[in-house]
Amino acid sequence: MPTTVITGAASGIGAATRAVLEAAGHTVIGIDLAHAEIEADLSFPEGRARALGAVQACCGARLDGLVLCAGLGPQTEPVSKVASVNYFGALSILDGLLPALRRGQDAAAVVISSVAASHLAWDQNPLATAFEAGDEAKVQALVAAAGPKSGQLAYASSKNALTVAVRRRVVEWGKAGVRLNSVAPGAVETPLLQAGLDDPRYGPAIRDFVAPLGRRAQPQEIAAVIAFLMSAQASYVHGAQFYVDGGIDAMTRPTRF
Ligand SMILES: NC(=O)c1ccc[n+]([C@@H]2O[C@H](COP(=O)([O-])OP(=O)(O)OC[C@H]3O[C@@H](n4cnc5c(N)ncnc54)[C@H](O)[C@@H]3O)[C@@H](O)[C@H]2O)c1
Repeated sequence: MPTTVITGAASGIGAATRAVLEAAGHTVIGIDLAHAEIEADLSFPEGRARALGAVQACCGARLDGLVLCAGLGPQTEPVSKVASVNYFGALSILDGLLPALRRGQDAAAVVISSVAASHLAWDQNPLATAFEAGDEAKVQALVAAAGPKSGQLAYASSKNALTVAVRRRVVEWGKAGVRLNSVAPGAVETPLLQAGLDDPRYGPAIRDFVAPLGRRAQPQEIAAVIAFLMSAQASYVHGAQFYVDGGIDAMTRPTRF
């Protein structure tokens, strides 16, 4: 029976992923701020270290799966938390659990990015260098200096950098025998999206951004793709980003892929 860690397991896409993986026979260890096996705050280094220590204690240094869902939307206050959770929190858990995944059976990991990752090209991401240097303080300073657009910048740039980070790891993780992919959802009906819709700064733009399929996704529709990527059926899928966005990326960037 595979043992899989899911961050952000208490809500939205993480909770839906938990349900589908448990139905497929996984033992799930959830990490979240509350209502999870491991309660930890991934927005700061001590919380990340505590989460990693608790996973080691639970799974005995051997893990078969990892799904990183914990994340915050652009409307979050304080805005500094957005990049801290979406990028630094995610990567510390990803890298911290590679040794345990290496010992797992047909191990795989999926990182939840966003269709917003492609709103910024990497060479136009003003935070790219600071993200790749792992310089959290510099990222926060650049976000703070962005003024009223800081939430949008923090969200899009952290998801852009997260997708790049997954792709940069493809050789190391391939050699380790652990498949690593990302999923880029469009608008999914979760508390995170609702908070964005309720925010006068972001609500109108989210409402106007309608996918070609003409509706938003349910969290289960993202979880189904994550479950596929975690399964043996995806045994040759590595280093890919799956857009599960109702066609938004193809509509906005038909010639770039
Ligand atoms: N909902 C969407 O429209 C959408 C679109 C694209 C990408 N995403 C991404 O999908 C992922 C899941 O989002 P969701 O929509 O299910 O949101 P959600 O708010 O329903 O779930 C996110 C979970 O992350 C947890 N979390 C937040 N901060 C944390 C912290 N500091 N430490 C530990 N856990 C923390 C929350 O408690 C929550 O349970 C996020 O990474 C988000 O950016 C969502």
